[in-house]
Amino acid sequence: MSRVLGVLNHKGGTGKTTTVLNLGAGLAMRGKRVLCIDLDAQGALATCLGVDYTYSLTHLLLKQVRPQTCIVHARENLDLIPSDRSLLEAEGDLWRSEDNWQARRRLLERMDGMEANYDYVLLDFSPSVSLVGESGLMFVQQLIVPVEMTYMALVGTRQVIRTLRTTGQLPGYNVPIYLIVPTFYRRRQRKDREVMDVLTKYFSDKLADPIRADVRVAEAPSYGKSIFEYAPRCAGAKDYMRLVERVLSDG
Ligand SMILES: Nc1ncnc2c1ncn2[C@@H]1O[C@H](COP(=O)(O)OP(=O)(O)OP(=O)(O)O)[C@@H](O)[C@H]1O
Ligand SMILES: [Mg+2]
Repeated sequence: MSRVLGVLNHKGGTGKTTTVLNLGAGLAMRGKRVLCIDLDAQGALATCLGVDYTYSLTHLLLKQVRPQTCIVHARENLDLIPSDRSLLEAEGDLWRSEDNWQARRRLLERMDGMEANYDYVLLDFSPSVSLVGESGLMFVQQLIVPVEMTYMALVGTRQVIRTLRTTGQLPGYNVPIYLIVPTFYRRRQRKDREVMDVLTKYFSDKLADPIRADVRVAEAPSYGKSIFEYAPRCAGAKDYMRLVERVLSDG
């Protein structure tokens, strides 16, 4: 059965896109069929994977083409529904739609069970709250929350939990947090160890091993490569592979 996982944190720059990219690439390398969906108008995923495309999530949400047409084959076992700035048109369309509830169901309805073709579907959320994002929340089964090692990131995490509580009061919105992934971790920094202690206290079994700060992880996207293609032996690749194993071990 397919698992549909959203990668979300309302704080910007916590490693959401990097996590979708490398978790997706790692799962695909392990023989799982993976679809990544970019819900962010920044549209980084297509660039990170170095793929060209004609149709994007905008066309899918605006019902302009068949949903399958918007899927780009990026690597063996790894497909992508890309996004770009045109996603703002889809956001406007969702806002203008008379039935707010129906608007939030747009992604779910347009996907129409297509997730069944994959073992994992990973959604890269934008940091801001939007109707496109809410339609993503209706589609995902569980959330992965990357948290960087700062106090402000902890605040962002609290906000995610609050958003989930608010949205969780509506039918169809019950999205549990599956994993908290510490990112940009530097073991030698006392602050980082302190933030890890707080996360361990609050999330215990939901806490994944940290992803270390590693310049190679930041460099890989500019070559259109995952960390496993760019620097397979670096610390970041080891950490992301450990995350892949954790996700695989959970089913
Ligand atoms: N482990 C890491 N080590 C070093 N740099 C990293 C690491 N993870 C991510 N980065 C870099 O940090 C920046 C922010 O990461 P990323 O784009 O994944 O965050 P994001 O949460 O998706 O941001 P946004 O909220 O804008 O969508 C990027 O330049 C990325 O390459
Ligand atoms: Mg991002």
